[in-house]
Amino acid sequence: MSIVLGIESSCDETSASICIDGKIVSNIIANQTIHEQYGGVVPELASRVHQQNIVPAVAQAISAAKINKKDIDAVAFTRGPGLLGSLLVGTSFSKAFALASNIPLIEVNHMQAHILAHFIDDPKPQFPFLCLTVSGGHTQIVLVKDYFEMEIVGETLDDAAGEAFDKTAKILNLPYPGGPLIDKYAKLGNAERFKFPEPQIANLNFSFSGLKTAILYFVRDNVAKNPDFLTENLEDICASVQQRIVSILLNKLQKAVIQYQVTGIAIAGGVSANSGLRNSLLALGEKNNWDVFIPKFEYCTDNAAMIAMAGYYKYLKQDFVGQDVAPLARMPF
Ligand code: KG4
Ligand code: ZN
Repeated sequence: MSIVLGIESSCDETSASICIDGKIVSNIIANQTIHEQYGGVVPELASRVHQQNIVPAVAQAISAAKINKKDIDAVAFTRGPGLLGSLLVGTSFSKAFALASNIPLIEVNHMQAHILAHFIDDPKPQFPFLCLTVSGGHTQIVLVKDYFEMEIVGETLDDAAGEAFDKTAKILNLPYPGGPLIDKYAKLGNAERFKFPEPQIANLNFSFSGLKTAILYFVRDNVAKNPDFLTENLEDICASVQQRIVSILLNKLQKAVIQYQVTGIAIAGGVSANSGLRNSLLALGEKNNWDVFIPKFEYCTDNAAMIAMAGYYKYLKQDFVGQDVAPLARMPF
């Protein structure tokens, strides 16, 4: 029997989870609301709130799992990528916990963990599969050959898909984080109403900065003609922008399927919570006979269950790190 404690603190969610023999039995997520008033995550504030939240989050994860602290066999933590100050809180806590309990320490790559969230519930994908990982900081197409054998075959050259959503929301005067709000308004709008450009990039890489500029000019020009343009057309703008972001993502995914001849397709990361992306991927998968894997909402955005799950697979391999481990803001696979 193995009990792994997972700790996530890479951005603005403090999360702790317990995994018993490969099954997630608790997943506590403490969200930070302080950033809303600043229109984005303020790194210094994020690390301070992590410090306040981490002990109660771990205590709750342990009690919800109905285990005792001394039953834990290993601590898995997000080493990177992420905000250094935020990562430092989770890393320091995990090192201290491992030292005090005399148990091994397991480092986890946050982006790999988003993908391994697909192994929390059934049905699980079979290797190899392709995963479109779309979050606030990353947009990647990953060829997943095994639990920890992953190759990035396409990625963004500028903004991430989540940033494209959040920056669009800012242009539309919506609060941060705007992705979920665009999703909400898009459901009520006409996606064919406005046309936004699709970048022409030959390989499997993405670019979202041109789209952001196009939206900025589109809004500026229309508001100059009609000051109420935004409020009168918010739903149609959101639907049209969302459709374009989704088509940019799925067109590249289709290309990757042809190039790699793999038909197991997964999505991961915060933007995989987007209903437009989920529905369009399901439809595309049905049309092309793909095996599509879409995570539960609670495992799309940042959470420690995915860290505990990745930690469990590393625990099986006895893949541990020493007390000298330090967090990495940028962390390759
Ligand atoms: O994976 P995540 O929680 O954190 C990072 O590691 O970045 O992703 C956060 C991103 C934010 O940009 C947020 O706006 C976006 O995911 N997001 C969404 C939705 N839910 C979260 N974007 C579009 N539609 C959603 N429903
Ligand atoms: Zn994430």
